[in-house]
Amino acid sequence: DKGGHSHYMAKEIHEQPEVIAHTLAYYIDPAKPAVRERDVKLAKAFAEATSLTVSACGTAFYAGMIGKYWFEKLARLPVEIDVASELRYRDPVYPKGGMALFISQSGETADTLAALRDAKAHGQTTIAVVNVPESSIAREADIVLPTFAGPEIGVASTKAFTCQLAALAPLAIAAGKARGFVDEAAEKKLCAALLEAPRHIVEFLKQEPKLRQIAQGVAKARDVLYLGRGANYPLALEGALKLKEISYIHAEGYAAGEMKHGPIALIDENVPVIVIAPHDALYEKTVSNMQEVMARGGKVLLISDKTGLDAAGAQVWKAVEVPAADPFITPLLYAVPVQLLAYYAAVAKGTDVDQPRNLAKSVTVE
Ligand code: M6R
Repeated sequence: DKGGHSHYMAKEIHEQPEVIAHTLAYYIDPAKPAVRERDVKLAKAFAEATSLTVSACGTAFYAGMIGKYWFEKLARLPVEIDVASELRYRDPVYPKGGMALFISQSGETADTLAALRDAKAHGQTTIAVVNVPESSIAREADIVLPTFAGPEIGVASTKAFTCQLAALAPLAIAAGKARGFVDEAAEKKLCAALLEAPRHIVEFLKQEPKLRQIAQGVAKARDVLYLGRGANYPLALEGALKLKEISYIHAEGYAAGEMKHGPIALIDENVPVIVIAPHDALYEKTVSNMQEVMARGGKVLLISDKTGLDAAGAQVWKAVEVPAADPFITPLLYAVPVQLLAYYAAVAKGTDVDQPRNLAKSVTVE
């Protein structure tokens, strides 16, 4: 049942406010607001941890990359991250007393499962963020943190991704608290900000017709570049993956600052450059990279909030406004325009959105 939508992907994009709220409610007590003290074992493990290794595949890996920024900032925990298909063959140095976090919607991804087994064999305390509670990854991890996205049918991951973020963010706060870097006031502020995410997404979804129209322009391109900085850099990677997998447009995600180290040579009027730049501490830097693109004739689609769009001026090709929010939660919000752009680009191209060619929902082979 697609609930009145043309594709499961569209339905799943629209379910996000609700399923993110469910996931947040499991980890955050809204009355305080504060993280719920669900797992004493988990808090103890974080208090004593020497490091955190994060691994996953595809979109789940990008959720983990965003998590890395949060864990480093809030919990001052050294984070090592790699895709599971590399980590498991790399002979990584697992520190004594380390923790390892694996993220998977299906809980059945072969490489992620193998990486988890390897980390466990090397004495790491393993945590799994999974959407399917009875999955192999959930069964084998020491600590299981569920997401409540519900069944995700579309091959392109949307609501599972934002729910992974909705589980990782409270986890990073809890880790920060256990390690003495997040005090009560900070915890309250961060939790309150997270609880606002569903409301902001509802608000943003009203702009869907505009996104559809912009995506028709994007659909004409052969190549697209996505740029972001900080926790929004993984979102640039996710945006590019979404475009590739469902619209078959070649897209690359880049850290905004890396543009001038090579990819800027690609810029001309045929390559849309999508810039993810909320008006946060990194905004000025990202916008200066954006201006370098425009100075070379590149056409920029800027995704920002009102302040960010106003400050950028009128020279951008297209502008998408996301509600202003605490910088901590912007990856959750900016995920939605990124999904809608890919979705409507695919619809414009007439591809099989829910069943893109060559792809399986769950990759159980290595
Ligand atoms: O089930 P998992 O979360 O472990 O799957 C990981 C990837 O295969 C998955 O996220 C894939 O990249 C999606 N098709 C992306 O939209």
